[in-house]
Amino acid sequence: MQDLELIRLAYQARERAYVPYSHFAVGAALEAEDGRVFLGCNIENAAYTPTNCAERTAFFKAVSEGYRSFRQIAIVGGSVKNSSGEAAYAEAGGDYCPPCGVCRQVMMEFCDPETFRILLAKSPREYLSYTLKELLPLGFGPKDLL
Ligand code: THU
Repeated sequence: MQDLELIRLAYQARERAYVPYSHFAVGAALEAEDGRVFLGCNIENAAYTPTNCAERTAFFKAVSEGYRSFRQIAIVGGSVKNSSGEAAYAEAGGDYCPPCGVCRQVMMEFCDPETFRILLAKSPREYLSYTLKELLPLGFGPKDLL
């Protein structure tokens, strides 16, 4: 899939973010090897620690549907200014939202660090592209247990 199309889907996923505590809404669109795309948003919790990041939501949806190999993920995120946390999803003027360390480790479990692409967008047309290896150098993964 074209980069800008995957980014558009990440913005779409972000609209479903449940963020009443941080007001920081994140969306992710994860493309599997066969081209199927799984969307994810962050889902917060009153007890805070059960919060799930957008990227892991997308991965866990995909893996639970039988998918284990992936090409790339697009990630978008930023503050949502209103207090209900359910509107004002500006698609421009934001900043990049790099994946947290826990999400990078989940990517390491299912993706080839040399080829898996991580697209970080700050608007529907402005984005950076990294490999997982660039964002998680010397990562520990399944091969280390062989
Ligand atoms: N968050 C994500 O969903 N993905 C990231 O890559 C960074 C952080 C979420 C977790 C929490 O709901 C909010 O953003 C603020 O940390």
